[in-house]
Amino acid sequence: MEVAQVLHMNGGVGDASYANNSLVQQKVISLTKPIREEAITSLYCSTLPRSLAIADLGCSSGPNTLFVASELIKTVEKLCRKLKHKSPEYRVFLNDLPGNDFNNIFKSLDSFKMKLQTEVAGGIGPCYFSGVPGSFYGRAFPNQSLHFVHSSYSLQWLSKVPEGVDNNKGNIYLGRTSPSNVVRAYYDQFQRDFSVFLKCRAEELVQGGRMVLTFLGRRNEDPCSKDGCYIWELMANALNDMVSQGIIKEEQVDSFNIPQYTPSASEVKLEVLKEGSFAINRVEVSEVNWNAFDDWNALDFESERSESIGDGGYNVAQCMRAVAEPMLVSHFGEDIIEEVFSRYQQILADRMSKEKTQFFNVTVLLSRKD
Ligand SMILES: C[S@@+](CC[C@H](N)C(=O)[O-])C[C@H]1O[C@@H](n2cnc3c(N)ncnc32)[C@H](O)[C@@H]1O
Repeated sequence: MEVAQVLHMNGGVGDASYANNSLVQQKVISLTKPIREEAITSLYCSTLPRSLAIADLGCSSGPNTLFVASELIKTVEKLCRKLKHKSPEYRVFLNDLPGNDFNNIFKSLDSFKMKLQTEVAGGIGPCYFSGVPGSFYGRAFPNQSLHFVHSSYSLQWLSKVPEGVDNNKGNIYLGRTSPSNVVRAYYDQFQRDFSVFLKCRAEELVQGGRMVLTFLGRRNEDPCSKDGCYIWELMANALNDMVSQGIIKEEQVDSFNIPQYTPSASEVKLEVLKEGSFAINRVEVSEVNWNAFDDWNALDFESERSESIGDGGYNVAQCMRAVAEPMLVSHFGEDIIEEVFSRYQQILADRMSKEKTQFFNVTVLLSRKD
């Protein structure tokens, strides 16, 4: 599987789109707001840029895409009022893999900018948006051209499925029964990818530039613990049930592997320290329920989505469908998709009625060293 070609969230604004099924990710963005505020405030006050360049890496397409940029701009405008500074101009770069639905983002830009102008008393500085298609596991921007890099729920995606995981029988990601060579292969791939990411961003950020990165990760140090694996283990259960009923072949499941690694905070820290270009200002681990409707309150987002509570199994299955459907279709074909997600929904509903099910978020605030 060529990840850069196959991996993208479901586009558009339909029932299975990422735009309509990304409330968990929205919740995570709202949880990490204080860290971004701290970062943009210290960055602005220490560098006073006249032209502020912000990049959101793995921006996807939907209500979350422009939310972080709007929040950062509002914070800088508040600081400018307080310090009696003229507003800077803003250059916002939205990056994702080429399969991302950039058209949908571009269509919403005019109304987004108009809304932002009216929300900030006195207006905002000029804003220029650009789409930057390409992998963040490579150079995406010119030398020292960025002040602030943000990425949420994207860096757990690897650049490729690790090599040597053919014996991960019955699993589609790491799981309790994964052999040790498979666990090692996933961790090695994460280390290689994240270190390339850090090297590239170190070249692209100005000195003193900040990065706020949130990974879908884990609290537990064991990479095969439920923290990061359970959601995929239950999808594997749905696929394995279909194998036992002869609907799909065992080899098809055995050769399907999710290109993801959900790191712990210490694994993230270790890579940053090894690479050496960034100081670590903050590390936090938080959690969010699989069914974000469980504990959602709509304080930060004006979204009609927050009004419906809905069915937990359905919500979580739709969230995972928006993320994984293109990969599943590319491997298994279109025909089995409805069946997989209908079984997955039932399995999820059953587990969620019996145990506490949460995603874990690892967030780091880093500064580019001098
Ligand atoms: C779960 S979405 C998160 C989107 C958004 N940041 C949010 O919080 O709602 C992950 C995004 O990361 C993107 N992504 C994964 N690997 C990437 C890579 N190597 N380069 C750029 N984007 C990548 C995916 O295409 C996807 O749109």
